[in-house]
Amino acid sequence: MYPELQKELDTYQRRTPKSAASHKLNLKRLPLGVSSNYRAYDPYPIFVKEASGSHFRDLDGNDYIDFNLCVGALIAGHCHPAVMQAVGERLSTGTMFGMPHDLEWELSEEICARFPIEMLRFSNSGTEATMHAIRLARAATGREKIIKFEGGYHGLHESVLVSMKPKAPDFGDINAPTAVPGGLGVPEGSRANTVVATFNDLASVELRFTQNPSGIAAIILEPIMMNVGLCIPQPGFLEGLRDLCTKHGAFLIFDEIKTGGKLAWGGASEYFGVKPDMICLGKSIGGGLPIAAFGASREAMALIAQRKVFHGGTYNSNPVAMAAGLATFRDVLTRGNYAHVDKLGAKLANGYRRTIAKVGLQAYVAMGGANGALMLYPREVRNYRDWMVVDEDLWRHYWFGMVNRGVMALPYGTEEQWTISVQHTEADIDEHLAAFEEIAPALAKAQVRATS
Ligand SMILES: Cc1ncc(COP(=O)(O)O)c(C=O)c1O
Repeated sequence: MYPELQKELDTYQRRTPKSAASHKLNLKRLPLGVSSNYRAYDPYPIFVKEASGSHFRDLDGNDYIDFNLCVGALIAGHCHPAVMQAVGERLSTGTMFGMPHDLEWELSEEICARFPIEMLRFSNSGTEATMHAIRLARAATGREKIIKFEGGYHGLHESVLVSMKPKAPDFGDINAPTAVPGGLGVPEGSRANTVVATFNDLASVELRFTQNPSGIAAIILEPIMMNVGLCIPQPGFLEGLRDLCTKHGAFLIFDEIKTGGKLAWGGASEYFGVKPDMICLGKSIGGGLPIAAFGASREAMALIAQRKVFHGGTYNSNPVAMAAGLATFRDVLTRGNYAHVDKLGAKLANGYRRTIAKVGLQAYVAMGGANGALMLYPREVRNYRDWMVVDEDLWRHYWFGMVNRGVMALPYGTEEQWTISVQHTEADIDEHLAAFEEIAPALAKAQVRATS
């Protein structure tokens, strides 16, 4: 470990002793001391005491401007007043019924008004939404295989827990990547039904259709692949996937768990002008409570109405979460707020770019709506294998450096990205940029040392 990184880690440990102590307690009962593997990192994660607006405070009382925002689930920011009011009013009228209620049609109207789907079902997490969407696509086509992209993340069920972060030599040829299980416990049958292609490479997708004539039920992808920082679809890529799916009778599923609430008012379909057959939504549409949904045409969703495809769930359309979702659609995800977030996003990206150029860092900034990331690469990342050569120590130096200066620039992980909320201000962006400007010269120096 190089000295500047060690210094940042020492500072981190000096500032956060209570997080260290609580992590030790968690470790007794929770593997890795956390409730999701994504939350674990060395030496230990920050433990949160409270949050409001664009800030959170840790157990030691340190204040941070939050661009993690629950791994991108909070474009509303913390405790958005409209969401809090809706939740507060709902809490005293029953927290769950397991029966239909009036918020269901209200929220589904809001969703269908801006995404190109005719019907939907609610669920609670992105994992559930992509699982049901894939099952429905399989049922509608009578086929079992799906195509996903190497490096793409779509949740934790068996069909998609494949090739999220595969390594050489397991991952095989880039033109026809090997499907690598994302951990133990994924049955071989599931793995074999998930065929993997390379993002931004239509030929690799076409090859998969040729190799599996009449076998592919769907392609599932994030329109901007966000499990690798931000990997932007090159011109023609999404249109090409649309054409291939139409030609081969497969469903095009946009996993908009991240992009849906954050890219634009109408999500990726509006932003890129490409219409998928199915959409999965989650995270930011709940304004801080767990809501997800999957939707498609009336014809495809009819399979659920005909009781041919099963969908259920005790917590589906939980009234408190639905009230939060409704407030989020009506008062948070407004065109005016998207303009505010876009303006702050451009300011942040341009500020980074100025500093990158000033200190001579080999890096660029990738952006998409409320999301963005400092990409520590000399050239644009176009697929997972471009992304995987990141210098982890340099990235850790950046992340801990920012955290030590009161800026949670993004969730921990080279695959992550920042989120700007509707509650962030110009002053928050100025502070973020000031912290980056302070550490950037040391990053540039460390990068030169590592590459020379
Ligand atoms: C694109 C994408 N799909 C699906 C999921 C899974 O969502 P959840 O964690 O709510 O199950 C995530 C979570 O990060 C995601 O980013």
